[in-house]
Amino acid sequence: MTYILAIDQGTTSSRAILFDADLKIAATAQQEFTQHFPDSGWVEHDVDDLWNSVQQTCRTVLDKQGITATDVAGIGITNQRETTVVWDRETGTPVHRAIVWQDRRTAAYCREMKSHEPMVTARTGLLMDPYFSSTKLRWILENVDGARAKAEAGKLLFGTVDSYLIWKLTGGQRHVTDATNAARTMLYNIHEGRWDAEICKLLNVPMDMLPEVLDCAADFGTTDLLGGQTPILGVAGDQQAATVGQACFGKGMLKSTYGTGCFALLNTGDTPVTSTHRLLGTIAYQLDGKPTYALEGSIFIAGAVVQWLRDGLGIIGQASDTQPLADKADPQQRLYLVPAFTGLGAPHWDPDARGAIFGLTRGSGPAEFARAALESVGYQTRDLLEAMKADVGDLGKTVLRVDGGMSASDWSMQFLSDILGAPVDRPEVLETTALGAAWLAGMRAGVYPDQAGFAEMWALEKRFEPKMSEDERATRYAGWQDAVSRTLTR
Ligand code: G3P
Repeated sequence: MTYILAIDQGTTSSRAILFDADLKIAATAQQEFTQHFPDSGWVEHDVDDLWNSVQQTCRTVLDKQGITATDVAGIGITNQRETTVVWDRETGTPVHRAIVWQDRRTAAYCREMKSHEPMVTARTGLLMDPYFSSTKLRWILENVDGARAKAEAGKLLFGTVDSYLIWKLTGGQRHVTDATNAARTMLYNIHEGRWDAEICKLLNVPMDMLPEVLDCAADFGTTDLLGGQTPILGVAGDQQAATVGQACFGKGMLKSTYGTGCFALLNTGDTPVTSTHRLLGTIAYQLDGKPTYALEGSIFIAGAVVQWLRDGLGIIGQASDTQPLADKADPQQRLYLVPAFTGLGAPHWDPDARGAIFGLTRGSGPAEFARAALESVGYQTRDLLEAMKADVGDLGKTVLRVDGGMSASDWSMQFLSDILGAPVDRPEVLETTALGAAWLAGMRAGVYPDQAGFAEMWALEKRFEPKMSEDERATRYAGWQDAVSRTLTR
């Protein structure tokens, strides 16, 4: 039996998922790691934690299935995007912890650089926001002792997490990334498909630190991690891998993934759309040298709001307690929770905004908080879709395909459909991120079908249709917009 191994290095855990020759999941392993919050709005990962958890989960999953390296035809990697690693070219030692995508430490610098935003957006599709890798990379060069000099001397390498993992997996043989991850650095010209010398100069980033950029299905090198020589054949940032896993290959197709954050990507075909409504232009995937573009709406807190109910407020013991608790909420109360814990992403892009809750009464309790938390995810998704409509016109009959942990919640998906006033499709396979990475690698290995064949395999598990009245939808959404406007700092 032939298998494909997908590595999903995410924000809170690393996972290894073994797919069989029919693209069915054979075994999985998962390991969480510590989140470091050294200062307000700062988020870091210990790079060794990322690497060790990837190694261990990969080995565990092979053991579980009772197979060896010879049974694995290829590896696909998908990863938390934008998170920034800088390491020593000789020793492989990271010069600093990874600075995570959620980290806001470069907010002041981004404000200073605001006047360059039109040029940066025109080339990269992104906005001058701390979310992206480039200002985090610059921060490391400016703040770690000796880093700037070493970088200028060509002794340091930069990579997003995929790039660092490949470098480790190949024993330092390959310093590469794929087009989707490159597109999240704010240093990559998505129109011309190359690192942008002018932006690198503006941010004072030496270009020889940057990895070579390949297609999503390509030869990324081989690894002996599994005990033989296994080729790495597929790479995509996690949201792009989910877009692939959801088979959103046609222009106008749309998916939304509910993980730590929520990321909605609308396939815009072979021409990048420059958003005029504060969405991002990005690369959905790149195959045979040909990029397919997407408009992306990025929300920083979705599933993480449930973690906050558990770890911050302590009103639930586990994530699955949320829905039963929300069901007990008093329907007469209308609480709005704006989870701007690390600022607000699309379409507001306010790194200084912080969370707030509105509409509290003496009767408000844990149940109302739980419901407001779940509803905040639906409201934020509607914000993204409104911005998409404003950018590309009516989305017509486009149906939102959902995935990620929170999409398993019927309650949340029904509310989403209600507040969007549109159907929401949940596929049979919710592991679309890993599926996308596995397909990229397996297709390259000749194990899996081509794009059209893979698209035909997409299967619907459940469609949610809106049940809320027009009036109620309008009143609720207006209440949400009012709540958000009160948290904005500018
Ligand atoms: O852009 C950040 C995103 O890639 C993180 O995804 O699934 O780790 O929350 P996730």
